[in-house]
Amino acid sequence: MRWGIAGYGWVARDYMAPAIRASGGTVAAIADPSPTSRMQADAAGIAAFDSVEAMLNAGACDLLYVATPNDAHLAPVRAAAAAGVPVLCEKPIAATLDQAEAMAEAVSGGALYGTAFDQRHHPAHRAMAEAIAGGEIGRPVAVRIVYACWVDPAWSPNGAAHDNWRADPARAGGGAVIDLALHGLDLSERLLGEPLADLSITLQRRIHAYPVDDGGMLTGRSASGVLFQSHVAYNCAEVLPRRRLEVLGERGLLIATDTMGQTAGGTLARRCATTGHDAPIAFDGETSPFTAQAAAFMAAARGEAHDFSMARDLALMRLFDRAYRDARSCL
Ligand SMILES: NC(=O)c1ccc[n+]([C@@H]2O[C@H](COP(=O)([O-])OP(=O)(O)OC[C@H]3O[C@@H](n4cnc5c(N)ncnc54)[C@H](O)[C@@H]3O)[C@@H](O)[C@H]2O)c1
Repeated sequence: MRWGIAGYGWVARDYMAPAIRASGGTVAAIADPSPTSRMQADAAGIAAFDSVEAMLNAGACDLLYVATPNDAHLAPVRAAAAAGVPVLCEKPIAATLDQAEAMAEAVSGGALYGTAFDQRHHPAHRAMAEAIAGGEIGRPVAVRIVYACWVDPAWSPNGAAHDNWRADPARAGGGAVIDLALHGLDLSERLLGEPLADLSITLQRRIHAYPVDDGGMLTGRSASGVLFQSHVAYNCAEVLPRRRLEVLGERGLLIATDTMGQTAGGTLARRCATTGHDAPIAFDGETSPFTAQAAAFMAAARGEAHDFSMARDLALMRLFDRAYRDARSCL
């Protein structure tokens, strides 16, 4: 299948394009207003357009992946839906709830839409979901996540000059919390097989001199009463432990380390609540969450069963937006 990419920046170039190829697709075209991005595409043998409309009008792709800054997700999704092209859009759905609602309206005519919550596709997280559904830890009690990194005002993914829109509240929709926490919120719903019902957030702007939050603590509860807790941050040095996911159940604890993120691998174990001993849980350590996600989206576009759902993602965005607005008013 021929993919088009709107926004050929860091995540598209370094993670999604290789994942598309690894899952059997082709990166046929990109659309990006930046001449530098278009030159990089050209050098990789990819057709480069300066607008999404031009790329779609040329019939250059069967699927669209949107990886523009958060406030620029809506227009390409609208254009793809109007052209009848299935669209996978990066998280968060958008920078604001209003934009997310407009996006839901745009795809309500039946166009296939997925939010790129890649973490739900990580093989370790799929294995965790199976272990929970199979009763291996008994009734789940709590999901606990640490997902943190270092993003200072001059942050760049590769050391080269970079437009750090992540520190701009209008373009990003917030700071560390809108960027990082939705991964864990979506993943929690996937692991538990049920939506979150309550959420509250406490923010900090502690280390970095920019107008968005650089850390946050989230607490919540699922529909059936499982607790959710997550610490996300832009102010955690990257040599420190910063990617950890645990699910506590009445009969054991599932522990995943270094699985949250864009790359393959990490570790997964079940600690027995009777003996305290760890037993590793096997998973495919070679396939990245991006590769598994690209494969899942292509299967969905071919008409196979899938669990991409705008209705679910919008419900989560509404829950998140309410808590985030409350938290920002106290910052
Ligand atoms: N799932 C993940 O793990 C993950 C990781 C990183 C980023 N992301 C998401 O991906 C998106 C992009 O992040 P990034 O770090 O790659 O940003 P980036 O700044 O590196 O790249 C964004 C690209 O979009 C281009 N662009 C801007 N406006 C555009 C428009 N209207 N049409 C087409 N292209 C446009 C820019 O020129 C740039 O090349 C964000 O939504 C971010 O939240 C997700």
